[in-house]
Amino acid sequence: MAKYLVIGNWKMNGNLSRSEQLVEDILAQLPVLPTLEVAVCPPFTYLAPVAKRLRDTAVKLGAQNLCEHSAGAYTGEVAGPMLADFGTRFVLVGHSERRSLYGESSELVAAKVETALECVLTPVLCVGETLEEREAGKAEAVISSQLQPVLARIGSSAMKRVVIAYEPVWAIGTGKTASPQQAQDIHAFIRTSLQQADAWSDDHSRLLYGGSVKADNAAELFGQADIHGALVGGASLKAEDFVAICHAAG
Ligand code: G3H
Repeated sequence: MAKYLVIGNWKMNGNLSRSEQLVEDILAQLPVLPTLEVAVCPPFTYLAPVAKRLRDTAVKLGAQNLCEHSAGAYTGEVAGPMLADFGTRFVLVGHSERRSLYGESSELVAAKVETALECVLTPVLCVGETLEEREAGKAEAVISSQLQPVLARIGSSAMKRVVIAYEPVWAIGTGKTASPQQAQDIHAFIRTSLQQADAWSDDHSRLLYGGSVKADNAAELFGQADIHGALVGGASLKAEDFVAICHAAG
């Protein structure tokens, strides 16, 4: 089985000195855990200084987004090859904030996943339903509708190289975590769907849970059979909380 993976998504928080201090504190507090891979995703402007500090450490670099094109007249966008220049290993794609606030469709998300793979970045494809969709019994249908365009675009073999993060929209930044069983049920659904499409590898595929993951609920989430790590927002902004979550997985 692949290593557990914990990714900190700093979103649009901090400044240069806070970013440098945060990465310093994480490195100071985080032991190398043999069964765990850890990454942080700073804002674009802090990728370079964070990358410099992470060089030759066990913590990997991630980005929060990328453009679906690799170069050209796309003002304000950041291309995959530019991210790769900094030694970026992971890139979040289709985070619910990108989908809901910036209108990213599942087709655009699929194009971004494809571009990320072409740039040898590991895409972390975010999927998840709103509370309204869950209450209407549509959670699985929504997740399928987010996975299918990606699968159709990149094919089942490439899908095995994509990390998938299940983030119920109602649990993001709300303090309201999905129960371990709710999360496990959806993770099992995603795994089964991918297995049926021949897009799952027991050795490489990983399903992360995201949505109000904290030091005190992480261990129970990681105890579920199909939860292989976490995508952490708010709690990744404090080194001790983030490191405690990593410990729970390691
Ligand atoms: O990318 C991370 C997720 O949006 C979760 O954020 O841990 O603050 O709920 P949160």
